[in-house]
Amino acid sequence: MTDNSTASETRPLSATLGALRAALGEDSVRVGEQIGERAMTDWTRHAPTRPAALLLPRSTEQVAQALAICHAAYQPVVPQGGMTGLAGGAIARSTDIALSLERLSGVEEVDAASATLTVRAGTTLQAAQEAAADAGFELALDLGARGSCQIGGNLATNAGGNRVIQSGTARDQVLGLEVVLANGDVLTSLGKMVKNNTGYDLKHWFIGSEGTLGVITRAVLRLHPQRAARHTALVALDGYDAAVNLLRRLSTRFGNDIGAFEIMWPDFYDLGVSWTATARSPFADSHPLYALIEHASFDAGDDGGRFTAALTDALEAGAIRDAVIAQSVADARALWAIRECTAEFPARLDPVNFDVSLPIGEIGAFVDHCRAALDQRWPGNASYFFGHIGDSNLHVTVDGHSIPGVDHHAVYAFVYEMLRPLHGSVSAEHGIGLLKREFLPISRSPAELAAMAAIKHALDPHGILNPGKLF
Ligand code: FAD
Ligand code: LAC
Ligand code: ZN
Repeated sequence: MTDNSTASETRPLSATLGALRAALGEDSVRVGEQIGERAMTDWTRHAPTRPAALLLPRSTEQVAQALAICHAAYQPVVPQGGMTGLAGGAIARSTDIALSLERLSGVEEVDAASATLTVRAGTTLQAAQEAAADAGFELALDLGARGSCQIGGNLATNAGGNRVIQSGTARDQVLGLEVVLANGDVLTSLGKMVKNNTGYDLKHWFIGSEGTLGVITRAVLRLHPQRAARHTALVALDGYDAAVNLLRRLSTRFGNDIGAFEIMWPDFYDLGVSWTATARSPFADSHPLYALIEHASFDAGDDGGRFTAALTDALEAGAIRDAVIAQSVADARALWAIRECTAEFPARLDPVNFDVSLPIGEIGAFVDHCRAALDQRWPGNASYFFGHIGDSNLHVTVDGHSIPGVDHHAVYAFVYEMLRPLHGSVSAEHGIGLLKREFLPISRSPAELAAMAAIKHALDPHGILNPGKLF
């Protein structure tokens, strides 16, 4: 016999699951052991939890049916993409239904005249990049998780990545968007027009909303001309001011052709090097700072001579200490492998990740201050500083293994508080999700938070979409 309280909780869920099975088909509604580990946590590996059910819709219509059913039942739903998020945004509670976009994948069209790519939300970023390249274009968005993260997740988090200084964030790549609202209504705005001032630009409510306002099902992405020649260099620098000066120097000379400007402090650089196949730095000496720079030119005949000359000039002027220029694609990959060692953080560290944002000119001093403060508070901590500095985005990863017994929350609170007087942002690119929710007021005023809550209430009146995230 079941007692009344349990019955009142389970009956609606079983009725909801019955309606979902009828609408989507048995094989699209998984429960219990049928739900694999993938749906239980994201790349943060935060508190793995098996959701009450996992939905695997195959079409926008099925997403709409699923949300209409859940809306009517006040049933929370957590959209899940590639599960590479670093804010816990896709982690469902045991009472939530997870809605995976993985079956809603594939590139629908490349329109060469409009230079657009129409893609389903569950397509991996890499597959979308390859489709663009096959058609002679370039999808400008790029990040280390490209093989697993999905376009829907990239847009829901407004992902940044390695090419923001050249082409902007995920938001800047979007011309059209299809979204299913919490009540199952479908907003299809898959226009390919660059200009469209017909009232509110609704797509921007959903981009960066971390699955709290709607489920993204399709997008029209802007394509760029292919940059036919890429040249990669690893540069050794005197310090942070030298890095900013070099960025300005190269930007003055090459403008938008500087595609990546990734800074690594020695702690991060040494770790990244030690995890590469050779475990050897390309430099004979150690240096105070390193920059991984990509020059990307439209001219297929560009042999890298101009980029090399610019770095040689910088060396002769004392603006840089040393430089290694990749001579082949394999060389370039080896240099990028140092920077992309972050993919191994969850396996090799107990990472406490930060993706903060500060004015570019203030990041160097912040790193010095933050490192000193961490060392004073937790002597012996192992912390790694790196980031997309051209976009004002600093990453810090503190290895929890180096401070046994210290709760991650204490580290979050300690670092985020340092941003308050500087009016910095607690999230440059990974989003708020679950992990940064309580710290959002450090970066957003009460009036801003109230406006966000009003939008949330208007679009999701039953509060079913990703509850407990962002707010
Ligand atoms: P998920 O983790 O599945 O979900 C993220 C959020 O989006 C959740 O709130 C989820 O509910 C929501 N969501 C997912 N799909 C949808 C949808 N279709 N509709 C509505 N909401 C949805 N991020 C950067 O910005 N820049 C980087 O340089 C970067 N580098 C990374 C490197 C590595 C090695 C790793 C592991 C991660 C990196 N990330 C980076 C973080 C992560 O890859 C991005 O946040 C990515 O955009 C998440 O995509 P996803 O499909 O994995 O989303
Ligand atoms: C990166 C992730 C951590 O930049 O955002 O590697
Ligand atoms: Zn990043």
